[in-house]
Amino acid sequence: MNDTIIKALNWRYAVQKFDTTKKLAQKDLDTILESGRMAPSSFGIEPWHFVVVENKELRQQLHDQASPQPKVIDAPVFVVVAKRTDVREVMADERVARTAKVTHMDESNFKGLGDMISGVVASRDDVALNTWITSQAYIPLGMMLETAALLGIDAGPMEGFDHAKFDELLGLTEKNLASVYAVAFGYRGDDPAAARPKVRRAAEEVTTVLK
Ligand SMILES: Cc1cc2nc3c(=O)[nH]c(=O)nc-3n(C[C@H](O)[C@H](O)[C@H](O)COP(=O)(O)O)c2cc1C
Repeated sequence: MNDTIIKALNWRYAVQKFDTTKKLAQKDLDTILESGRMAPSSFGIEPWHFVVVENKELRQQLHDQASPQPKVIDAPVFVVVAKRTDVREVMADERVARTAKVTHMDESNFKGLGDMISGVVASRDDVALNTWITSQAYIPLGMMLETAALLGIDAGPMEGFDHAKFDELLGLTEKNLASVYAVAFGYRGDDPAAARPKVRRAAEEVTTVLK
């Protein structure tokens, strides 16, 4: 196994208490967000949006709707990750347009891809579509958590908040977005959770090798 990666993954844990005196360098935040942006997605639809909440007053209001979990206000960086809610209407066309632009080719070249995405979207009812989109929105989480760990940056992922209130406070609904999870980034403070042993299922329990 690669020591650098495995050590970083053992070092990381879900931070509860951040050091309120330490800032996060902009270039480090940019790297973390870029690793989220580079996440793969089914058909390449990228149905997510990252909201970096710098506004202190807003952070306080979000905190009051989050259990309350101190990391919402204590961490130097707080990112809410939202999913797109307009997938049925625009996702296939957007994917085609994006691909045509990057490849400098006419959109007609990607009609097959667009039709395939439209077909999958049409075959799913709202619940199934929503489940699919929500699961896509989690892919950047793994990328960002691993990137942060490799940079020696701490993170506290969280789902424990009132999603409807977050959406309202962040004005997400009118932008065809809905919050899925949030991540606080920064540096661990005097956090009792840091000393907890890592609890993970054994490799044999989660892995099957079929020969
Ligand atoms: C999607 C997601 C949501 C989570 N939500 C919360 C949360 O709201 N509050 C919290 O304290 N921890 C939260 N956690 C942290 C998990 O409890 C933690 O990652 C898990 O117990 C494994 O521990 P470790 O990350 O410290 O290794 C969340 C983790 C994930 C991945």
